[in-house]
Amino acid sequence: MLNKPALHGLFIVLALSASLPALADVDGQQLYRQHCVKCHAEDGRANTMRGWLYFAQNLSKAKWQDNNSDSDILEAIQDGPGAMPDYADKLSEAEQLALVRAVRDLRKP
Ligand code: HEC
Repeated sequence: MLNKPALHGLFIVLALSASLPALADVDGQQLYRQHCVKCHAEDGRANTMRGWLYFAQNLSKAKWQDNNSDSDILEAIQDGPGAMPDYADKLSEAEQLALVRAVRDLRKP
């Protein structure tokens, strides 16, 4: 078991890595899994219960990918259109940009 000081140290490490995302390697896939999969699904097709309920966008569609610029995607992440939560204050800029790349990786031919 972890003793109290060890837990405290662990907390400080976690807090530091959360507040210094630019220094840590920001993993867009991991952020996507953490924040987005519940609605948009692992492959971006939004074929989840919540995706259905909220009419979440299918992010893997080539046509949608073509029609949306990186800044459109960034804007969606920051503002949260419709029933989607907004992440402007919840994620750092580096994390938001990593998510834009993760969304791009969902593209299906
Ligand atoms: C609570 C469910 C939910 C979560 C969580 C969620 N989304 Fe969405 N998302 C939606 C819905 C619903 C829409 C469609 C909104 C609309 O146009 O009405 C959407 C739309 C989008 C769009 C497209 C906007 C457009 O203009 O076509 C992008 C990009 C997007 N989401 C990315 C993300 C990313 C990245 C995350 C994780 C950081 C995320 N979403 C988390 C529900 C969600």
